[in-house]
Amino acid sequence: MSYLELLHKIIENKFTLGVIGIGRVGLPLSVTFAQKGINVIGFDINDELIKKVNSLTAPFFEPNLDIYLKETMKSNKFSATNDYSLLKNVDVIIITVGTPLNEHFVPDYSQLFSALDKIVQYPIKNKLIILRSTSSPGTLENIVKPYLEKKTNLKAGEDFYLAVCPERIVEGKAIEELQILPEIIGGVTETCSKLASEIFRKLNSNKKIFVTTPKAAELGKLFTNVYRYVNFALANEFGLIAEEHGEDAHEIIRIVNEDYNRCRIPTPGLTGGPCLSKDGYFLTQHMPFPEFIQMASKLNENIPNHIIKKLKKELEREGKILTLCKVAVLGLAYKSGIDDTRLSPAVKIADLLKDEGCEVKTYDPYVYPDSSNSLSDVVRDADAIIIAVNHPEFKDLPSILNVLNKEPIVIDCWKMFDEKEIKGRYIAFGKGK
Ligand SMILES: NC(=O)c1ccc[n+]([C@@H]2O[C@H](COP(=O)([O-])OP(=O)(O)OC[C@H]3O[C@@H](n4cnc5c(N)ncnc54)[C@H](O)[C@@H]3O)[C@@H](O)[C@H]2O)c1
Repeated sequence: MSYLELLHKIIENKFTLGVIGIGRVGLPLSVTFAQKGINVIGFDINDELIKKVNSLTAPFFEPNLDIYLKETMKSNKFSATNDYSLLKNVDVIIITVGTPLNEHFVPDYSQLFSALDKIVQYPIKNKLIILRSTSSPGTLENIVKPYLEKKTNLKAGEDFYLAVCPERIVEGKAIEELQILPEIIGGVTETCSKLASEIFRKLNSNKKIFVTTPKAAELGKLFTNVYRYVNFALANEFGLIAEEHGEDAHEIIRIVNEDYNRCRIPTPGLTGGPCLSKDGYFLTQHMPFPEFIQMASKLNENIPNHIIKKLKKELEREGKILTLCKVAVLGLAYKSGIDDTRLSPAVKIADLLKDEGCEVKTYDPYVYPDSSNSLSDVVRDADAIIIAVNHPEFKDLPSILNVLNKEPIVIDCWKMFDEKEIKGRYIAFGKGK
């Protein structure tokens, strides 16, 4: 099969796609392709995850994932397996395994290498392989390409096709964004880029596709996340500054952003999660001034400590000691509307409180959807409440406190409320007194 044969197979939807790693990125990607009529096989090493997926249950919360999963499995467009021999049947492979940081704050590619080792056990001649996982600049060309070439004695761009197309969706909007976000594609040759572009056009024929070099594509993904992370850090710095001055950063930021396109300052809040927290470190090895990213990380990572300090200060004003208090932490996910707790600052807050020796109750309707606890159960006897995630479900807090006739200290990391709405002492991160 030549390049043209593979191209026609792709254009005519007569190909099978293998997705390696059906986690938070790989599973939504798989079922979205399958929903577009592509035959997709999802591969994973996590047997429990595969069992769950094959029982038509979404293993994590993502809007519409359960519907897409059921529909595509019932129509036999999607299946999940740990049987890598099925790689023989696929024409195109997308790699979506995890690329976390190791203890030295450099990328841990063990999942990537294990995926590559599985791939080379089966013929890859004339197949297209796309790296979707986040990678540091040069990974496709200096690691993936030589690795595959050495293990198979084949040449990328001639005997098989290779490209990088990093994922840029956010959790909670994965399926929606897969169909609308532009793609940045870097193939090792023009033909590789062309094939990869045709693949992603399957998600939406009008999708914007930018073809560039593999390194630029990898950098583009990292620039995207570092930009957001550094901006959140700056917003948090503004929050700290406003607190010092007894002012409200949320209000100042609202005013300065209004009708002034040059300012799009985000509001202060807890910043973390498995992508934003780590992606900057994929660049720091290659930067003349890594301090910029390291400083943003230091700032964002320190906000949970700052929140605990604020709480201690407020309790002291009431003559209370944190260790002897009951604290309710609302939210455990790393951001609103999702159930992912990886590198979550909300979890860090709960852990820091436990380290202080106080009694901590946590509540997150996304992370524990089957819990019998309700919001009012968790706040009922709390001396203090920390709103760690701005889940929309927490909007009921003021009315619950009214009904309970309770006046705990409320520390809101997101300023979800106006001071007047809350019965008791209300303190928002970013707002001074
Ligand atoms: N989660 C996000 O919002 C997001 C967004 C954009 C990019 N990314 C990037 O996408 C990649 C995947 O992230 P994720 O959040 O989906 O991670 P994840 O941990 O949810 O999923 C990775 C999956 O790969 C599987 N896996 C590991 N080794 C394997 C192997 N050899 N063969 C088959 N499966 C294997 C794991 O069991 C897991 O299910 C990372 O590089 C991440 O940085 C993530």
